[in-house]
Parts: sequence; C-alpha cells; structure tokens
Amino acid sequence: MCGIVGILGKSAVATQIVDALKRLEYRGYDSAGVATLEDGGRLERRRAEGKLGNLEVKLSEAPLSGAIGIGHTRWATHGRPNERNAHPHATEKLAVVHNGIIENFRELKEELQAEGVRFETETDTEIVAQLVTKEILKGKSPVEAVAGVLPRLRGAFALAFLFAGEEDQLIGARHGPPLAIGHGEGEMYLGSDAVALAPFTDEVTYLEDGDWAVLSRHGVQIRDLKGRPVERKPQRIPSGTFMAEKGNHRHFMAKEIYEQPEVVGRTLAHYVDFATGRVKLPATLPFDFKTLKRMSISACGTAYYAGLIAKYWFERLARLPVEIDVASEFRYREPPMDEGELALFVSQSGETADTLASLRYAKAQGQHILSVVNVQTSTMARESAAIAPTLAGTEVGVASTKAFTCQLTVLLCLAIAAGRARGTLSDKDEAELVDELIRLPGLMAEAFKVEPRIEALNRDLARATDVLYLGRGTSYPLALEGALKLKEISYIHAEGYAAGELKHGPIALIDEDLPVIVIAPHDHLLEKTVSNMQEVAARGGKIVLVTDARGAEEIGMDTLATIVMPTASPTVAPILYALPIQLIAYHTAVFMGKDVDQPRNLAKSVTVE
Ligand code: AGP
Repeated sequence: MCGIVGILGKSAVATQIVDALKRLEYRGYDSAGVATLEDGGRLERRRAEGKLGNLEVKLSEAPLSGAIGIGHTRWATHGRPNERNAHPHATEKLAVVHNGIIENFRELKEELQAEGVRFETETDTEIVAQLVTKEILKGKSPVEAVAGVLPRLRGAFALAFLFAGEEDQLIGARHGPPLAIGHGEGEMYLGSDAVALAPFTDEVTYLEDGDWAVLSRHGVQIRDLKGRPVERKPQRIPSGTFMAEKGNHRHFMAKEIYEQPEVVGRTLAHYVDFATGRVKLPATLPFDFKTLKRMSISACGTAYYAGLIAKYWFERLARLPVEIDVASEFRYREPPMDEGELALFVSQSGETADTLASLRYAKAQGQHILSVVNVQTSTMARESAAIAPTLAGTEVGVASTKAFTCQLTVLLCLAIAAGRARGTLSDKDEAELVDELIRLPGLMAEAFKVEPRIEALNRDLARATDVLYLGRGTSYPLALEGALKLKEISYIHAEGYAAGELKHGPIALIDEDLPVIVIAPHDHLLEKTVSNMQEVAARGGKIVLVTDARGAEEIGMDTLATIVMPTASPTVAPILYALPIQLIAYHTAVFMGKDVDQPRNLAKSVTVE
C-alpha cells in the first residue's frame, strides 16, 4: 500500500507532488521520492528514506524545476525501506512508481539478468522499469513499450511512468490497487485516489481494473488490457470531502476519538427516523432479509472485529446464522455458498486487498454483496450491489477509531432491520433498541469523564511487556480490538481472549507483571466473568476492570483500576466501550513517545495481499 502521484503541470511540479504525497502518507511512509524532466527532458530524481519531511530536505538542497513529474510514498513489500529501494525507479529512458506487488518478478528478473541487465535494487518495481526500457531500446514508442509489457505482469499493481524527452506524456496503469486521473485546466494529474488530487481538481476519472491511460496536458486516452480504447466517465468529487485537520488535538487519533459522539450521531441520523423511532435503510437493498437463510461477513483487522460483534447482533436479534472470517482466509478457504445469500463486507478504506478479493470471490459465488464502507468512492463501494456507508468522515490515524464505532452503529441498524423483516423483533422491540441508539452519542460524550482514570494507568501499562484483554459475548471482540489498538500504536504485545477461555491455557501467563484488562458491562454474563477475574486475582494478576456503576458495585473486587462507564443497554454497550479501550491504547502510546498517527511498519490502507 503505497501512494502514487503524477502531474503534467504548467510550472515546477515537485512541491505540488510532495503536497499530494502528504495526503497519501496514510498509505505508507517508509521512504519517498520524486522524478521530473529537467531542462530539455532529462530525467532527475530525489529520493529519501523515512517520511516525506526527509524528501523535502533533499528538494530544498537540490530543487527540481520540471513541469512534469511523478512521486511516491512507500510501504515496503520487496526490499528494505531505504533510499536505494525508494521509488521512483529509473533507467536512462524512464522513471516509474508502483503500488502493489508484481508476483512473477523473480522469473522476469532472471530473464533480464540472462540478457545482461544489472539491477541496483531489491524491488520488484525495477523489473518493470527494465522491461519497458528493453522495449524502447528496440525502437518502440513509450505507449507501444508499455502496451507490450503490461500483459506480462502478474499480481496487483498500479503504475505511473515518466519518459525522458516526453514533456507532455504520463502513462498510468491499474491492475488491482486504485488509480485516479484528475482533470485540470491545461494540467492533468494521476493519484492513488481522489484524496491526493483534491487540492488540484474536483473532476476525477477512476481507472477500472486492467485499464491504462496515456495523459497529456489536454486530455487522456484510456485503453483496456488488450489496448482497446475505453470510455470512463469523470466524476465530480464534492469539495471538502477529504478535508482533515488536527484542530486543537495533538494527534489525528485523539481528534478522531473525540469526534465519535458527533460522527456516530451523524451516522445514526442516516439510518434512524427519529420521528417514528424506526430504522430506515438508505437504499432499496437487492435482497430481502426475510428470505435469507444465512449471511457471511468478511473483513480485516478492526473492521473484522466490528463484523464479529455484528455476528452476535444478527444471530440474537434476527435469528440469522452468520458465518464470519478474516478476509485473508475467507476466499482461500473456498467456502461453499448457496446462491442468493448475503455476503457483507466491512472496510473503512474500501480498498483493502484481502477484503476486496473476498468480495469478488463471494460475487462469483452468486452472493448479494453489501459493503459497510467509509470511503464511498472506493473500489469496494463501486463493486458492491449496495453500500451501507459509515459517515465517520476522513479517518487519518492509522489506528481505526471513529470508523469502528460508526461501523458498529451501521451494523446494529442493519441487524435491527433484519429482525423486523424476519419478524423476530416487534415494533416495541425496535422502538426500544432505537431509543438506546439515540441515547448513545450522549453516553459517548459522557464517557470521556473516565479519561483521567485511564491516563493514571500509563506507567503501569507502559512498563508491561504483555497485556491480556478479556471479555465475554460482544465484549469478547472488543477484547480483541483493545489488544490490537494497544499493540499497533504502543508496540506492547497484547492478546484478546474470550474470558471463558482463560482456564484453557492463557491462565499460565498470569503473574503480577501481567496487566489484565477486563471488559465487563453489567449484563447476563457478568457473573461468569467475575469468576474469571477471581482466577486472575488468585494468581496475583493485576486487573483493570472496565464496567458500569452496577457492575463495579456487584463485583466489589480489588483492582489495579476500575473504569466506571455510563450505564448503557447490553446491546449498544460494545459501541460505548470502544472508547475506553481506544483511550487506553492512545495514552499508553503517547506516554511512551510513540508515533501515534503513523506507527512503524503500518499503513492506513493495506492495498496489497
Ligand atoms: C486498525 O486499527 C488497523 N489499522 C487495521 O487493522 C485496519 O482495520 C484493517 O487494515 C482494515 O482496514 P479497512 O477497514 O480499511 O479495510
């Protein structure tokens, strides 16, 4: 998951390219680079390891003035994240930037090495540069050379090419990861998505899978993999769609945690008729919950945990059997799927390669495809029969927070609608559940009062080498999510477990150095969870209990800390209890001085398998 930018401009483009790359840093930030054509069409590159700031230093020391260029911010797949492996990769004929993986790069590299080509880098991208160069050295034009090479590449990739001497030509190709074309006034742009192009234009054309495009300052020709011209309609992206600033918060993650009452409320308003107290699904869905025999859910990471919680809701409220799997396992498992059932996908970015591949598998199996996505212009949104959008707004922090609670809000509304359609929920049931949902934004705002109590835990958690999260019922996926949040931004190893599983092995881990975070709102499972807490306490384990007033009173145990949340119904509790687990991870990581918004090794959108 890297970020690609290309600009055919009227004046120097290097700074604009860097600004666009900054909007794509969520896709990876191991290294970055720019290539332009300088005086008379000579290729020049500037590249730097690490974040874009390092590239800006290089450009300030040795500026580029070319009016055409390409740029890249990298999340390393092949080759260490250093300057030598930083894109753009180049020969004397061209420069290329790449997002994705060329799966047959080894055989192609061997073929080129056998012809005497010497490689400078460990990357798969350099193979592409050498293959196209080989075609040009045979006398082919850049367009003919690219047309000849693309069919030889296997894998998922988006590419942008700049050719020495070609001052009015960029070529972009899409085979998997997204690539968008921006239409300017006498300028043209290429970007991994519309976010990058927002400062330049609101008129964007998305390439479809297999498309490649030849851009000049006056327009674009798009061809399919066979080289046949194809038409793709430009879209107008409403201005401000992608605006995201930190406001008075120290990190985007903090801002996005605090935005949750507002964006959950905004999402709710999209799915609930406050006047009638009923759930209203935005669009006519191409399936009827009443006739479904089962449904499947597939997603990755935090989105998967949202799906796991939704499984409990669909099965309990709508008596609809749900099969769920992480997307990277789902399609390789080749699950048998009866035609006409529902396959639901959850994704903030709508570009996660594993989830998109699972969506395509399910579509091929004749499933109705419904996607819960935050980016409504994403590939998954475009390839779904229907979408149920989350209205979280742009989420910049790599650790997903507001998208998660908005996903849960949408999924609960879908489960309620399913229950109504299947007759397992009465009008009264629906009215009560909707009332609980309507109260949720207020409870979330109230929940921030626990923040000082959470910050007081920083020292204890920061010195832990391992942390265990426990929960039962819908608190079990929250335990998994809490562990993911902590490990992905503080780098402390953490595991989430079903509390009932503790005695089947993990209890061997318990000692006075292992903090155990127990998520236990007062519900029908509390008594069972208390037994697990006593097993932990009996072995000297340090418990952080996250519960409500009634739970705290009934449990009455000594703990390292008891975080008392506002009282909420067990059904909506997982959405509310997402807040303390996010805050625990955030404050621990900040206390440890970690880069909370851009944790090491991660990227916001994983567009490679
Ligand atoms: C969550 O904090 C992580 N950044 C990651 O697990 C993420 O949820 C996962 O990669 C799925 O991304 P998506 O929602 O954009 O598909």
